Parts: sequence; C-alpha cells; structure tokens
Amino acid sequence: MKFVKDNVDQQIAHYQHILAERINAYTAANPNSALYAPIGYMMELKAKRWRPMFLLACAEGYGASAERAMPAALAIEVFHNFTLMHDDIMDNAPLRRGQQTVHEKWSTNTAILSGDAMIVQAYQLLADVDNDLLAPLMLLFNSTALEVCEGQQMDMDFESRQDVHIDEYMEMIRLKTSVLLAAAVQMGAICGNKSEEQQRLAYAFGEHFGLAFQLRDDYLDVFGNPNDFGKQVGGDILADKKTFIYLHTCEADGGVHKNGLLQWHGTHDPEAKITSVKEIFRASGADDACLKEIAIHSQAASEALGRMEIAPEAKIFFTALLDIVQTRTV
Ligand code: IPE
Ligand code: IPE
Ligand code: MG
Ligand code: MG
Ligand code: MG
Repeated sequence: MKFVKDNVDQQIAHYQHILAERINAYTAANPNSALYAPIGYMMELKAKRWRPMFLLACAEGYGASAERAMPAALAIEVFHNFTLMHDDIMDNAPLRRGQQTVHEKWSTNTAILSGDAMIVQAYQLLADVDNDLLAPLMLLFNSTALEVCEGQQMDMDFESRQDVHIDEYMEMIRLKTSVLLAAAVQMGAICGNKSEEQQRLAYAFGEHFGLAFQLRDDYLDVFGNPNDFGKQVGGDILADKKTFIYLHTCEADGGVHKNGLLQWHGTHDPEAKITSVKEIFRASGADDACLKEIAIHSQAASEALGRMEIAPEAKIFFTALLDIVQTRTV
C-alpha cells in the first residue's frame, strides 16, 4: 500500500507526477510529425488525470502495485484524450484545458486522424499489461469504449430533440462519461485480483461518481468561471445540449419556462443567447436542483465505496475526492 501522503492534495499531486512521467515518455516516443504533434499537444495540456488516478488508487488500495496497473491507467487516459479530441469537433468547442482545441489549432481532419491514432495507441499501451490481466482488461475496455460512443451519439441526437426525458439524459451521461470512470475503478480491482462482487462494487462506485462528475461538468458549463474551467462557458447552451439543467428548467413550475427556452433554440447572437438562457435556468431553480442531484449520486457512490474491501487509506482518499467532485471549479 503506497498512500505516500496523508493529505489528499498531495496524494493527487503524487499520482499526477508519476502519470506525467509516463505520459511524457509515451509522447516523446512518437515520431516528430504532423500526425503525432497534436497527440503530444493534447496529452501534455494541464489535465486532472482523474481516470488513471482512480485506477491506480483502486489497484493500490486492493494490494496491487502501481506498476502492475500502469499500462491500463495509461491506456484509459489516452483513450479519454482521444474522446476529447473528437468531442471538441462534435461540440464545435474552441477551448480545451485553457488552450485552443486541436481542430482549431490545426484542422478538423487533423483532429480526426490524430484521434484515430490515439485509440490505436491506447490499445498498444493496454497490451503491455501482465499476461494474466490482458483478457479481462481487454474485455472491459472494449465494451466500455463502445458504450462511450453510444453515449456520444445520444448526446448529439438530443441536440435536435425537444422531448428528451431526464431519465434519458441520465442514461446518456452514464454512457458517455460514467462507464469510463467505472471501468477505470473496476480495472484497479482486476489488477488486485479481486472477486466479481468486489469488482461490481468498484464499478458501481465509479458509475455514481461519474454521474456526479458529469452533472458538475454540465453545471460548470453554465455557471463556471471561464478562467478556472478552461472550456468555453456557455458552450452547451450554444449547442442546445439537453443537460439536466435544461431539462429541469423545461419541467419546473408546470412548464412555464419551456417556451422561453424554445425561443432561443438554434442560431442567435451567442452572447445574448448565453445570458438569456442562463437567466431562465436560474429563474427555474435548475442550478440548485442540479447540485442536489450531484449530492444524491455522491451519496450513492459513497455507499458502494463503504462496501469495498479496500485499504482504509484508499477509502479516505476516495471519500475526499467525493467532496471535491461536488465543489470542483476545474
Ligand atoms: C472532460 O473530462 C470530459 C468530461 C467527461 C466532462 P475531465 O474533466 O476529466 O477533463 P480533463 O482530462 O481533466 O481535462
Ligand atoms: C464529454 O462530454 C464526454 C466525452 C468526451 C466522451 P462533454 O462534451 O460535456 O465534455 P467537455 O465539456 O467537452 O469536456
Ligand atoms: Mg460533448
Ligand atoms: Mg464537449
Ligand atoms: Mg461538458
């Protein structure tokens, strides 16, 4: 068990540090060419590294070494960055981690192809795991990667639909975001050779954590501070995303806010659209409702965590992360 620090911020910094070393080695090994330059750019932007950190912390908490878990952790992070590169094209996003997105800095075609190369490299990284881990990790990785695509398709389909139900939204964010965090935590349990029941609890913890995480992302997309958030605040409003906040506003107070929202659907002056839609969101109380929903899923994650037979230090660490997910600004 290597929880080297008794302070959660230092423990996060520790994981970020060991991951940075390995990520830098990965990007440095790529050829210096047009295909690989955007990969290095994307991978070295300031990211939180939560998915690989969860994987490493879970593995260590279950008694495996960080080294045993590292190939899977790197694969998950490269896969995540691939999804972001393509997501930014799909969402027409100008900013990522406070910097220009790859399709803006280079071109859409570059972002498509470099992203494709990243997913191949994610598999190459995963193939470096210990032999006994390859089959179970690959199985989980594959099903999860497909689910992420399914979630991203739903997200895009919802942009042009006006009859999305909150339950559909929850399923969409489960697929596009939660399953990757959940799989990362389960992979940690697999590295620790844990029972199916422990793996299931690890997955459930990550799944609820991921729901809280994406709800907070949607909240910050509307109400965040652009300097901290590193992404264009209001981007989801401009793209007519059917987020929890949007859908709650449609249903609140007997539906009186829905027409106001519909008037802003489609192309308008961006500043005016963001300001006005934000006001409608606030008037409906959707901001507080979203924070409540985040707290509900944090609590569900905490219950699954309570049943995980993991080292106490790991439990303390994950509990601290559950506090952070509810208040994060980045
Ligand atoms: C962004 O993920 C995409 C979402 C699922 C909200 P993160 O918020 O983990 O982004 P980075 O990797 O830390 O930049
Ligand atoms: C991203 O959801 C989910 C995936 C990339 C799979 P978002 O579109 O909300 O993520 P951000 O806000 O661009 O990071
Ligand atoms: Mg998106
Ligand atoms: Mg996006
Ligand atoms: Mg977002």
